[in-house]
Amino acid sequence: MARRVVSALLVLHGPNLNLLGTREPAVYGRVSLAELNRAIQRHAESRGARAVCRQSNHEGELVDWIQSAAREGFQGIVFNPGALSHYSIALRDAVASVRVPVVEVHLSNIHAREEFRHRSVVAAAAVGQISGFGPGSYLLGVDALLGGSPAPSGRRAALRRR
Ligand code: DQA
Repeated sequence: MARRVVSALLVLHGPNLNLLGTREPAVYGRVSLAELNRAIQRHAESRGARAVCRQSNHEGELVDWIQSAAREGFQGIVFNPGALSHYSIALRDAVASVRVPVVEVHLSNIHAREEFRHRSVVAAAAVGQISGFGPGSYLLGVDALLGGSPAPSGRRAALRRR
């Protein structure tokens, strides 16, 4: 019998996302991080994949997880860098340094908010960005990685544009 290939995805949440559910609910909603992680895992499982979710308030820890993702057996990363999206060259470089495709996600539509949120320095190194669909942004991120999206060439194109 043919062996089923199960993809393993890493989901990374950046600073302050541990406070989801109580943090600015008008912007980020009332779903807690634990509930969000369960929804992501259920969605991944429904697509025959496994999702491991981690959160950190520390830039360096996020860099370490991105660097070790392939070694740990992950085939893709769904990444919400939080505020670090807007200024962390270290995270951008980490994403650009690995072969594992990274999809950047945001709960809120960063382009419709304060001007300082409009730019993500991480996005150009990612295969793409999904922003503004609440928890659905993460599920769409999972779909982008599992759904046979043109991720690798999209990434090369994005890297060429830098
Ligand atoms: C966020 C948007 C960021 O601007 C903000 O700093 C966050 C959350 C989002 O998911 O909408 O922490 O990444």
